[in-house]
Amino acid sequence: MCGIVGMLGQNEVAPILLESLRRLEYRGYDSAGIATLRDGKLQRRRAVGKLSELSDLLVRNPIQGLSGIGHTRWATHGPATLENSHPHQSRSVAVVHNGIVENHLELRAQLSALQIEHKTETDTESITLLCQYHLEQGLAHAEAALKTVRSLRGAFALAFLFEGEEDCLIVARQGSPLVIGHGQSETYVTSDSIALTGLTDRITYLQDGDFACLSRRKISIFNCGGEEVSRPLERRNIDSASTDKGGHKHFMSKEIYEQPKILAAAIERYETSGGMAELRPAVEMVSSCRRLELVGCGTAHFACQVAGYWFEWLAGIPVSTTVASEFSCRKQAFDEQTLGIFVSQSGETADTLSALRHMKNAGCGTLSLLNVTSSTMARESDVSLPIHAGVEIGVASTKAFTCQLLALANLVLAVAERRRYADQDRISRLRKEFRRLPALTSAALAADDGIKSIAGELGKFVSVLFIGRGAMYPLALEGALKLKEISYIHAEGLASGELKHGTLALVDDKMPVVVLAPQDQLYAKSLSSSEEVKARRGKIILVSDTTGPTGIWRTVPLPSVDPVFAPILYAIPMQLLAYHTAVHLGTDVDQPRNLAKSVTVE
Ligand code: G6P
Repeated sequence: MCGIVGMLGQNEVAPILLESLRRLEYRGYDSAGIATLRDGKLQRRRAVGKLSELSDLLVRNPIQGLSGIGHTRWATHGPATLENSHPHQSRSVAVVHNGIVENHLELRAQLSALQIEHKTETDTESITLLCQYHLEQGLAHAEAALKTVRSLRGAFALAFLFEGEEDCLIVARQGSPLVIGHGQSETYVTSDSIALTGLTDRITYLQDGDFACLSRRKISIFNCGGEEVSRPLERRNIDSASTDKGGHKHFMSKEIYEQPKILAAAIERYETSGGMAELRPAVEMVSSCRRLELVGCGTAHFACQVAGYWFEWLAGIPVSTTVASEFSCRKQAFDEQTLGIFVSQSGETADTLSALRHMKNAGCGTLSLLNVTSSTMARESDVSLPIHAGVEIGVASTKAFTCQLLALANLVLAVAERRRYADQDRISRLRKEFRRLPALTSAALAADDGIKSIAGELGKFVSVLFIGRGAMYPLALEGALKLKEISYIHAEGLASGELKHGTLALVDDKMPVVVLAPQDQLYAKSLSSSEEVKARRGKIILVSDTTGPTGIWRTVPLPSVDPVFAPILYAIPMQLLAYHTAVHLGTDVDQPRNLAKSVTVE
């Protein structure tokens, strides 16, 4: 999704803005631009494609100035063209925007009635034109921006830069995140504090409805009621090691390989008194509810689905899982005794946030599991639990997924101990197995070379199926999603038992089928599904802790693990398979086309 940066500096801002935009690249984008003020005059450079295009343009055609704004655009209204790229500019104001203005057609019509015509298809241009109109009506900069903001509906984070105003940035937030950074004698604004790495660690999160006037020395924040408010100044230690590739070719590879260490650190944290205290309110909530509704998007949704099996198996709590974008389409069968659990890496995903608000308004308890603990979901949930994955930059989620599963497993075990639904010896054995997960994950990474050679062959196929049963079914969905999003090979994940109800018609000798089959009580049934594939000459890639029957095309051997935790371990080969296939095909692994890491529009 779009990324915003803005800066009132002491030195030339263009290179700094560019560097900050680089740190926001992970959000996904298809064009970029910056605007600065030189001698009070607005200057602007924009380019379609990657930031390298913008940076080349700035070498050929530099811009100067100590104040500026920058943007990476993920197209929503209008294609990724130069005209649609941000900053948008009218005569004396430049604007960058993240989000969607839902009433932009209304605004277009109002402006058109005033003989003010748009040149682009974007919703952002209406903001710029409206602000310009208010300036021309004689309003001062802050008033013109405020009046503009007050007429917008939808979700937005905005930064305005005005001609002749070298010491002024006006920003506003409604729905999309926005963070102010406090330098020594510089002021910054950005969609994500990661963009401020190396610039400042002193930040202030704006809240929904906030409007702020920034200068180098003074920051004035107003809430949606127009009252001046003070928002806390926080310190965020942004370790630059977490924002570099650490010797890997891609962030995704670094993040896959970090998993044993990160899972070990998370488990260590869970077992401290602080970690246990953090967990207690969540355990209380889950133990006392009658039903759970687990909600997330993409990979986070698959983590919800895995946890759905766990809560039912080990704690005896009925569960529904819903993909967040469908949540509001259901006629929900929940009451106040249903607890909503929301899983999100970013804590900003618009669909998940909207589901959270919906359940909250219905009087249900809300618990979120998040990686970004300063996010909107953290603030709006009754209770939130950190997943301790650290900064995840690759658009395709890897370590956040295994950390989501780990945090959910930790919660399920604690609830199972409290409710005493399952045999407690079994729960104690699972606790021990839980502690072995980092070592097992490390052993699973040993399959890397074998997977790399399979990936070399997988790239020749146009379609791949992934099948799994029980808690491995969501892993089949995750395996297919990973492959699709970064290699662009069509892939489909399905419950093994469903194969014969339609998809088997696609199977022939040109169809690789990844069979996720740990040796558990479902293994025999999983083998029957692979026999169905074999009989149609499908190419089976067996991912298992056993060698399986004859006639298997390729095998990915994994260590044995208690079947309950197999989804955590089996995530590793799914990630590696997608990663190596994408590298082999030469796609943009960390920033796949058309995708965004943090999807802040519904
Ligand atoms: C995007 C990302 C996915 C992610 C999903 C949910 O689609 O590309 O990797 O799983 O959003 O994001 P969240 O931040 O809510 O976990």
